[in-house]
This record gives sequence, structure tokens and C-alpha cells, in this order.
Amino acid sequence: MLKIDKLCKQYNNQPVLNQVSLDMGPKISVIIGLNGSGKSTLLKVVAGIVEPDSGTVYIDRQDITALDPEERKIGYVPQHPALFNHLTALENMRYCLKNGRGSEKILDRYVEMLGLKDILTKKPRTLSGGFKSRVSLVRSLASQPKVMLLDEPLSDIDVAVKEKLLPEFKKVLKDMGIPTLYVTHDPWEASLLGDNFYAMVKGKITEINSADDAFDIIKASYNIKSSVS
Ligand SMILES: Nc1ncnc2c1ncn2[C@@H]1O[C@H](COP(=O)(O)OP(=O)(O)OP(=O)(O)O)[C@@H](O)[C@H]1O
Ligand SMILES: [Mg+2]
Repeated sequence: MLKIDKLCKQYNNQPVLNQVSLDMGPKISVIIGLNGSGKSTLLKVVAGIVEPDSGTVYIDRQDITALDPEERKIGYVPQHPALFNHLTALENMRYCLKNGRGSEKILDRYVEMLGLKDILTKKPRTLSGGFKSRVSLVRSLASQPKVMLLDEPLSDIDVAVKEKLLPEFKKVLKDMGIPTLYVTHDPWEASLLGDNFYAMVKGKITEINSADDAFDIIKASYNIKSSVS
């Protein structure tokens, strides 16, 4: 379980996270928000890369707010996932296993499920964006995290490839069965992946029934009027 309780963060006296609270079981929760709404900051605070001004993060009821990122057992795929170019795809995915952490079994299972067997010996620069994303996902999952955070990991991917990848990601994340927090600015992407949906506006989040409702909340908050009547 992941519980986020009243997280606040300001930059230059501007609130970027404003009392963000979330209580998540083993589902895929998607936060939809415009550029600059605070999505990446929220994930960085949960991952331990950015310190909050106030608020608490719990995993399985343990307060982890003061723990270093590597002690949190969180898998984090950043906005522009970077792979090690001098290592093969397999070496990239086995990276955390080297230090005695993670699970070879999980790695093998998701290599199979995501059709990565034929690219294991390839170097990242020879792989398409879709394969790089799959490798980044497996690399994080192989560390056996208790929680997964994904920050628009498919933002550099073509729409057609995304349409194929998102159901694959969903299958793998559901199979892993841990709380997953995915952020995106794209309600369509959210609808293909999520179980639960939230809209994020200026550092505040609101639960919504479906990904399609995100734009209504966002437009109302920013007072944006549709040009189509
Ligand atoms: N290290 C920082 N120092 C100062 N301001 C920051 C810092 N990081 C983020 N911000 C500001 O906080 C706000 C939220 O940024 P954040 O990156 O969390 O937004 P986002 O929703 O992820 O946006 P995007 O969709 O563009 O990725 C922005 O106004 C940004 O300029
Ligand atoms: Mg971001």
C-alpha cells in the first residue's frame, strides 16, 4: 500500500504541491495534468529525490518520508528514461541484480511477456523508442519494488506505438500487483492504462470517474473556453 498524506512543496514561494493526499492499493492510478501542474514533483517527492516542505509518505504503513531513495523499495521510471549506452539491453535490465537486489525470475517473466528475447544482446542506441521503454520498465520491475512510479515514460513515443505498448504495460503492471502511480498530460493514454483517475491542477489533485473527465476539471480551473460550439 502507498499512502501520501498532505504533501506540500513550494518553489520560489509558489505552491507546486498543495496538500496532496492519496491512498492506493495494488492498482494503477493515473494522474492527468497540464505541463507545470506538479506531476513530476509529486513523483520525485515520493521517490525521495526531492524533499517535501511538509507531509508524509507511507509504504505498508511505514513512514518512509526521511529514507534515502535506494532504501524506499520504489521503482521509478523518469520522464525521459535513460539507459546505459555501453551496456546491452540485458545488462541494463540486470543492473540492480548485480548488487544482490531484485529478482532474476521477475526479469525473465517480463522479458518473455514483453517480447524482449531477441533484443537482449543489443545496445540501447540500436533499439527503437518502444523497445527502450520496455527495457526501462523491466529494469525497474526487476528490482522487486513495493511501489512503481512512472513519469510519462512514453512521452517520446509515436502514438501508434503507444497504442500497442500501453496495453502491454498494463498487463505487466497488473501482473506485478503493486500500487502503481502513473502521471501523464494525456487523457487518452490514461484511459488505456488506468484503474483509477485523478486530475491535477496547480498542485492539487481531485479523484475523477474516468480519464475523460480530466479536461473538464482542468478547463474549468484555468477558465479555458472551448473554441468549438
Ligand atoms: N527544481 C525546481 N526549482 C524551481 N522550480 C521548479 C523545480 N522543479 C519544478 N519546478 C516548477 O514547479 C512546477 C511544477 O513542475 P513539474 O515538473 O512538477 O510539473 P509537471 O506537471 O511534471 O510538468 P510537465 O508536464 O511539463 O512535465 C513548474 O512551475 C516548474 O517550473
Ligand atoms: Mg513532468
